[in-house]
Amino acid sequence: MASESPTVYIETYGCQMNVSDSELMLGRLAEYGYREVDAPDGADVILVNTCAIRDHAEQRVLGRIGELKRHMKSTTVLGVTGCMAQRLGPRLLERAKHVALVIGPDGYRALPSLIESARHGERVAKVDFDLEEHYEDFRARRVDGVSAWIPVQRGCDYRCTYCIVPTTRGPERSRALADVIRETHEIVAQGITEITLLGQTVNSYYDGTHDFADLLRAVGAVPGVRRLRFTSPHPNDFSDAVIEAMATTGAVCEHVHLPMQSGSTTTLKRMLRRYTREEYAECARRLRAAIPGLALTTDIIVGFPGETEEEFAETLTAVREIGFDDAYTFKFSAREGTPATRLPEAWTVSDEVASDRLERLIDTVREGTRAINMSMLGTRHEVLVEKLARRGTLLQTRTRHHRTVLIPGDDSMIGRYLMTELTGTTGSTFTGAVVPTRAALPLAG
Ligand code: SAH
Ligand code: SF4
Ligand code: F3S
Repeated sequence: MASESPTVYIETYGCQMNVSDSELMLGRLAEYGYREVDAPDGADVILVNTCAIRDHAEQRVLGRIGELKRHMKSTTVLGVTGCMAQRLGPRLLERAKHVALVIGPDGYRALPSLIESARHGERVAKVDFDLEEHYEDFRARRVDGVSAWIPVQRGCDYRCTYCIVPTTRGPERSRALADVIRETHEIVAQGITEITLLGQTVNSYYDGTHDFADLLRAVGAVPGVRRLRFTSPHPNDFSDAVIEAMATTGAVCEHVHLPMQSGSTTTLKRMLRRYTREEYAECARRLRAAIPGLALTTDIIVGFPGETEEEFAETLTAVREIGFDDAYTFKFSAREGTPATRLPEAWTVSDEVASDRLERLIDTVREGTRAINMSMLGTRHEVLVEKLARRGTLLQTRTRHHRTVLIPGDDSMIGRYLMTELTGTTGSTFTGAVVPTRAALPLAG
């Protein structure tokens, strides 16, 4: 039927930046009359928004792209977007003949017109960077009604030697503060009260006039913003002004995700992280001094080229000494074209050794998390109800410190703030009981 609107199905891999980009793409396509569907079968357009951070992530997506062929009609346009699209460009068109479009992170403005050309049989790879592009006129299609991502910075100017992101997302650029504030008002008007600002090194935000401290204060001052988060900061960009703004802006939550990568100064040097073990610890100390009770999570890579057993042991002691609430842990993955691939071959850490270190690291992280979480039992926290938990009739909620608490309840409570007491822990997540507050009690008389 000609009058029926075309359908689009999108699958998203990788980090929050990609989730946010998918929301922008869906918003753009909705303006052009597309309707989102939640299964690929028979969709007019299928998009796979990809990640290139580790080889494993890419292999998974390549497998999935192959699989999606079965779900396509003869007229379906299959597009690959995101970081892997940017990295492989035309190579992806050669490799998978059923892929019609390959579009990098700065090319989404052209999506509707490229889909049109693809309908007429063209196959296109669009992978140029556009340093002006922030998609200001796009209206992101947010599906989560409780929490919103706001990209405030695109690209990255650091050059960590293991990392593909500067290649896939281009140079760093920040949105104008006024644009971020406009979007914040729009989000709050939709009833969303929690906002997470996004950027690869988000605290290096600078729009030519305002820095990250200004941004935190301005977003935090928008009426209706009850919780303000950001990810991921770089330790070197935590100026005193930024920490001060965090401590004095009521909406800023008491949680920082601060990637450490390694606890060994010599490994950090080969990674070009631009800080020492001591400087990282000092950054954590400054944050905790300014924000009492701050929860700290991190990212750690094991098996970086040249990592000795002694250097790895320093990562374990750093994890213990700093006391992280949690950590994402990864085995080093060599990415084509990154400086780490040019280190001496002999420095390669075997997969066996890397796997063993990963296991030991995970054990150490878990021990720390469990100890912190056990000590929290019996304490009371305000939680925001996010969604139904996978298990039975429980709700998934979150504290300001980003801890997950499962409580009994039903979906009418989603989006509400409640006071809970932590009653149990699996070691990583909590169960809680709702504590009646004055406002929640029935009125007397
Ligand atoms: N911009 C963020 C990190 C983005 S990538 C930051 O600098 O904090 C998310 C995490 O993936 C990184 O923190 C790092 O721990 C991991 N990572 C990045 N490249 C990797 C690689 N080549 N191999 C293994 N892990 C990697
Ligand atoms: Fe990658 Fe480093 Fe930039 Fe993070 S700061 S995106 S790890 S280059
Ligand atoms: Fe992956 Fe790109 Fe994010 S490589 S982690 S989707 S910036």
